[in-house]
Amino acid sequence: MNRRRRVYEGKAKILYEGPEPGTLVQHFKDDATAFNKKKHAQIEGKGVLNNRISEFIFQHLNDIGVPTHFIRRLNMREQLIREVEIIPLEVVVRNVAAGSLAQRLGMEEGTQLPRSIIEFYYKNDELGDPMVSEEHVTAFGWASPQEIDDIMALALRINDFLTGLFLGVGIRLVDFKVEFGRLYEGEMMRIILADEISPDSCRLWDIQSGDKLDKDRFRRDMGGLVEAYQEVARRLGIMIGNEPNVPRGPVLVQ
Ligand SMILES: Nc1ncnc2c1ncn2[C@@H]1O[C@H](COP(=O)(O)OP(=O)(O)OP(=O)(O)O)[C@@H](O)[C@H]1O
Ligand SMILES: [Mg+2]
Repeated sequence: MNRRRRVYEGKAKILYEGPEPGTLVQHFKDDATAFNKKKHAQIEGKGVLNNRISEFIFQHLNDIGVPTHFIRRLNMREQLIREVEIIPLEVVVRNVAAGSLAQRLGMEEGTQLPRSIIEFYYKNDELGDPMVSEEHVTAFGWASPQEIDDIMALALRINDFLTGLFLGVGIRLVDFKVEFGRLYEGEMMRIILADEISPDSCRLWDIQSGDKLDKDRFRRDMGGLVEAYQEVARRLGIMIGNEPNVPRGPVLVQ
């Protein structure tokens, strides 16, 4: 079991060699980090929740024709994925001002943005993932103009899907981060969604109370992180562990 080759160990996940060429096993750890690893903790149960929530979202995206790396869930903490060549960008989509955008531009957190905004950050921990423009992305060859177009179109489709999904269960999708990769199939190459979508990578606010149901609870020392992630899973109809209820899909929150 433990003899499989570890391809990469990151802050929140481990990638192992998969059972077939071109596949990997993505293992979700309980580690939480923030502010470029300056803050670090183990939060029991987080990995299991993120595995299930990310599975739920990626499966739905596959179903509506947004290509993703997700193949199937293997167990409580692991999923089988397609290996891609990761594009070294964190693609952030924002609907509401929060976090670094609110700080940088002096906006009040919670201000609705005039339209959805896409930002690119260069994935480089030593540099603290600096924000970059499309000019940097193409000049340094991180992605071609055509790839940027594909990435932006996919990011907006994902945003539309997620906004509606969460709105239906009483949650406001403030912003989220995604990663994309190149999948080579013979002569063909296409861009697909990789990594994860979970409360670690989204800002999710309860519509009625404004309560944060995401990793900001950890960043801001608010506590109750696992409970918040559990609430997201519960509202999406994802049942975890030995719970007697059968999954029902999204539940409208009054
Ligand atoms: N389908 C995939 N194929 C190859 N690599 C992937 C795939 N999906 C995600 N990854 C990469 O696997 C790693 C997941 O680990 P984790 O999220 O813990 O990394 P991290 O510590 O956040 O570091 P990073 O800054 O590289 O994201 C990331 O580097 C991510 O880019
Ligand atoms: Mg990561």
